[in-house]
Amino acid sequence: MCGIIGYLGPREATPILLEALKRLEYRGYDSAGLAVLETGQQTTSLTKSEAKVDLLIEKLWGQAPSGHLGIGHTRWATHGKPTTVNAHPHADCTGRITVVHNGIIENFAELKAELSAAGHEFLSDTDTEVVPHLIEQYYRGDFLAAVRQALQRLRGAYALAMFCLDDPDLLVGARLNAPLVVGLGEGENFIASDITAIIPYTKRALILGEGELAAVTALGAQVSTLDGRPVEAKIVHVDWDVSQAEKGGFAHFMLKEIHETPDAVANTLRGRLDEAGNVHFAEFDVPSERFRTCRQVLLLGMGTSLHAALAGEQLIEDWAGLPARAIDASEFRYRRPTVTEDDLAVVITQSGETADTLVGLNLARARGALSVAVTNVVGSSAARDADGAIYLNSGPEISVASTKTFIAHVVSQALLALRLAGGRGRLPIERRQELASSLRALPEQIRRLLQSEPDIARLAHRYAHYRNFMYVGRGLGHVVALEGALKLKEISYIHAEGSSGGEAKHGPIALLDPLFPVVAICTESSTREKMISNVHEFVTRDAPVLAVVSEGEAELQGLATDVLVIPRADELTSAVLASVALQVFAYYVALELGKDVDHPRNLAKSVTVE
Ligand code: G6P
Repeated sequence: MCGIIGYLGPREATPILLEALKRLEYRGYDSAGLAVLETGQQTTSLTKSEAKVDLLIEKLWGQAPSGHLGIGHTRWATHGKPTTVNAHPHADCTGRITVVHNGIIENFAELKAELSAAGHEFLSDTDTEVVPHLIEQYYRGDFLAAVRQALQRLRGAYALAMFCLDDPDLLVGARLNAPLVVGLGEGENFIASDITAIIPYTKRALILGEGELAAVTALGAQVSTLDGRPVEAKIVHVDWDVSQAEKGGFAHFMLKEIHETPDAVANTLRGRLDEAGNVHFAEFDVPSERFRTCRQVLLLGMGTSLHAALAGEQLIEDWAGLPARAIDASEFRYRRPTVTEDDLAVVITQSGETADTLVGLNLARARGALSVAVTNVVGSSAARDADGAIYLNSGPEISVASTKTFIAHVVSQALLALRLAGGRGRLPIERRQELASSLRALPEQIRRLLQSEPDIARLAHRYAHYRNFMYVGRGLGHVVALEGALKLKEISYIHAEGSSGGEAKHGPIALLDPLFPVVAICTESSTREKMISNVHEFVTRDAPVLAVVSEGEAELQGLATDVLVIPRADELTSAVLASVALQVFAYYVALELGKDVDHPRNLAKSVTVE
């Protein structure tokens, strides 16, 4: 999730681009850069920094390029480490065409091979760099025509801003599966990845639709499809301030990030899963042979990531038939664990910087295990230390309580389990296809679930006065219960514990009374009947029961005190949907109690000390 800005108008472009980039840093700040068409000089000045925008400003101090057309970028790395060479903008061989990009070009490897064979020289490891070279390949003096031809060959997700030295009065933007807006000013216009960047300059914006392209001049913008059909553009008036705009109009980053989950999941899946259920990880390209001899999988993590590890444990065992153990990394590091060269160590860490997780990783590596970091941050310590990486590609998560990245982690575990199953010749083809299609349907299912946000908010209102909660589930529902309880305590400071359905009667049930509600995960699963028996036990102890159920569930209506209904789906999808629903529930409870949702007391987003 990178930040993009483009400017065309009578003012000096550089200060406007830099200011906008500062405001866009919440979208990523691995590296930054800008390109300005220098007035009268017939050159494009390109400046990049391997760190935050401040370093870019420092580099440009006293030597800012002068020009009225430019593009800028602040990067959240996906393909290629956060280095100066990989920073955007990227240019073609001639330096005429410059491009900034947010998204992932799925077919970049094949395009790069084709363009290299045609003589194009690549400088970076990014997927983006194929775009200017592809445009160059088609360029015969008409920039817009070349852009149209090039973009029709791209698969994946892109929001692009670009210009060509030969066309000093034209700024071009295009989007597919990634947002892009055109800001309409007075005699000047902008292109941006979101409204935050342009808010001080204009309140009028044109929202580009999927697969559309905007040809922007200082005086206006023309929108069309890639094949050139004109489109009636939708102009909106925005009255957000900068802080509201950063949160996309949501009251908190947490809620915004929950709503970004469908895109986060789509990005985790992008380019990795084919229809037959085969999985390919570009940065963890291990021969299947290595998985056939694998003895066990160790999954290390902390906090929410440990819960994702617990989901991975079940999926890997179930689908790949491999012994798998999810372990609290802070405990693992002080044990004398049985790790051998035949093991796979999977470290699950959103930030890639959690101290205990990193020590656990290095301990497993020291004992010869093959290792992979599952992380959201390209180039993070975990990604650097491990033998391979599986990136979530979810974009930055700002709220301390993890939401979209928990779901992306669970999805990445499903992909890993499928990869291991494939490598070991497990799971019949029909089952693999079925799993692949249900993973693919996830983003849409999550979108459907989020339509019931007002119902979940009403339930939160009804339950917010309780001081204790028990969350209970079985199988993947147990993971949902543990994570649901953690989410509630993290942001509302209400005591909440998670238990398995079977374990409940070995202690936790003693706590129950009319002031101690249970959140029971009773969605689609092979143990649903068992959970219904659990609910009977809780009701008998006079505990209020909020049952999370699949659409059409009749048995619990009238038995549970309240039901939270999620779309009907298979077991894995149901677990994901129930988790998202409980994130929304925790959010509204905390809101009701007036807590500082995005900055809960005593917690940090990344714990880099033991
Ligand atoms: C902190 C955060 C949690 C997170 C945990 C692990 O405790 O508050 O939300 O789950 O660290 O972080 P990681 O970056 O390793 O996933």
